[in-house]
Amino acid sequence: MASKQDKYIHGYSEKEANRLNDQADSLAQVLHHDSIWEAGSIVLEAGCGVGSQTKTIVLQNPECQFISIDISQDSLIQAKQLVESLGINNVKFQQADIFDLPFEDESFDHIFLCFVLEHLAYPLSALDALKRKLKPKGTITLIEGDHGSTYFHPDSELARRAILCQVELQRRNGGDANVGRKLYPILQNAGFQEITVSPRQVYVDDSNPDWVEGFTKNTFTAMIEGIKEEAITSQLMNRDDIEKGIQDLNRTAEGGGTFCYTFFKGKGIKN
Ligand SMILES: C[S@@+](CC[C@H](N)C(=O)[O-])C[C@H]1O[C@@H](n2cnc3c(N)ncnc32)[C@H](O)[C@@H]1O
Repeated sequence: MASKQDKYIHGYSEKEANRLNDQADSLAQVLHHDSIWEAGSIVLEAGCGVGSQTKTIVLQNPECQFISIDISQDSLIQAKQLVESLGINNVKFQQADIFDLPFEDESFDHIFLCFVLEHLAYPLSALDALKRKLKPKGTITLIEGDHGSTYFHPDSELARRAILCQVELQRRNGGDANVGRKLYPILQNAGFQEITVSPRQVYVDDSNPDWVEGFTKNTFTAMIEGIKEEAITSQLMNRDDIEKGIQDLNRTAEGGGTFCYTFFKGKGIKN
């Protein structure tokens, strides 16, 4: 079956790989302090990308075996290099499409996805396909952002419009940049039980320079900068306005500026 992923908005450039790594490093504690599975588990990580989350979850669960898949062979090569450089040996990488998984049904104890559903036109079909590969009583864990949760100081209409360009372009690619708030109904509709969803808020001010660099600048603002040319070509904003909007986002990373964003982590059990 052909992949239902038409076009991946962030692309696969070196700059984007660096952005994913910055994002993961600054968020590791917020997102993963509870990414723990029982020893001996076999865990499928779907959409591992360049391994930014892989390294954290695999190191945190040394007695689990991981299979991390992605549709992009180039990303998998980088992921493999990353874990090899860290001496990690409890993960295997494999190229695979979530919608056409090359595994026996009921072969995984747990499944984990981070920042993947937001790019899929059919998130429910993805969860159906993944659920078939889970053992009964196995769990699925989803982590997603929600751009509607973004607010900052100093406020700026042009910055908010620049963010909406990202939301719109992702929607045109079949994705949903505001999917975080929908994790509960998506898990419900996919038939998972005992669903829990927890918001993970990130709040950044200049008392924490690592977060200013790692999150406000190198994760969020870098993402908006990444769609600048496409937003202009698509006539969603003119060049002057979007450049001013991005400048205003960067301003939130300077003296007295603040930045807030909420991620959502959802979990469900297969009956
Ligand atoms: C935003 S990246 C997230 C990567 C990683 N999980 C992280 O948090 O850094 C989304 C990844 O999902 C992958 N992906 C998208 N559609 C897929 C599909 N149908 N099957 C497998 N991987 C897919 C993309 O290739 C990309 O590497």
